Amino acid sequence: MEQNTWQNKERANAYDKLSVKSGTYFLAFRDLPSLFEKYVKGNKAIDFGCGAGRSTLYLKMQGFETIGIDISDEMLALAKINDPEGTYYKVENGDYRFLGEKEFDLVMAMHTFDSIAPAELRIQILKGLKELLNENGVVFLVAAAEELWKNDSFSFAMNLEVNKKANAGEPVYAKLKNMPNHEWIKNYNWTKEDYVKQIKESGFEILEIHDTIGKPEDGICWIIEEKIAPFQIYILKAK
Ligand SMILES: C[S@@+](CC[C@H](N)C(=O)[O-])C[C@H]1O[C@@H](n2cnc3c(N)ncnc32)[C@H](O)[C@@H]1O
Repeated sequence: MEQNTWQNKERANAYDKLSVKSGTYFLAFRDLPSLFEKYVKGNKAIDFGCGAGRSTLYLKMQGFETIGIDISDEMLALAKINDPEGTYYKVENGDYRFLGEKEFDLVMAMHTFDSIAPAELRIQILKGLKELLNENGVVFLVAAAEELWKNDSFSFAMNLEVNKKANAGEPVYAKLKNMPNHEWIKNYNWTKEDYVKQIKESGFEILEIHDTIGKPEDGICWIIEEKIAPFQIYILKAK
């Protein structure tokens, strides 16, 4: 049974076609290097929810020695094809200590929490990830803004009644515009306030919440991205 929308071959294959330059996604990749410079000391990283390896390969390109972990066999199979030399593990929720307790400088969760509910599970997972961080370690959590689910953007068709009506923690649905024939992707609607509350309940302090706003110099004909930041990057340190 699917616990998560990405435990599915068709959706995994569709996601595998994306790159760091893919439309709206580009905005998070654009802003990460200067935030790494500011907040990350050291180069040992975990990519939590590594998917087909896009974010793991990106972290490696940024100089991080990175292990990718994911709950989806379908995604991990693609990651191993895309990065045959890489280290990837399947994980269950909450206990990640086999990777090395307090050993990591960075845990990246890029678009991973968008598809995780309920709140208690998110808190359990965040607490588990905290165990991986060393004294100076930080979590970078890249998450869809609530407004992204309610508006069409360069990359996503989202303008659905069900999305507009969704309350905190309820399902929202997305389609990638360049893959109109693939299935709707189920995610969950979490507000910035929900993120802040869950992050604090997990024993983290927030160092920064960065808005990935579109700019004219990106050279992309943005739709809502110059008005509404599609993603927030939450930067967390254990309290
Ligand atoms: C939207 S994809 C993002 C993949 C990658 N980070 C990227 O940016 O290309 C989200 C990934 O998170 C994984 N995921 C979702 N829930 C998870 C969980 N509880 N534990 C580990 N991975 C999870 C999914 O299987 C999927 O591969």
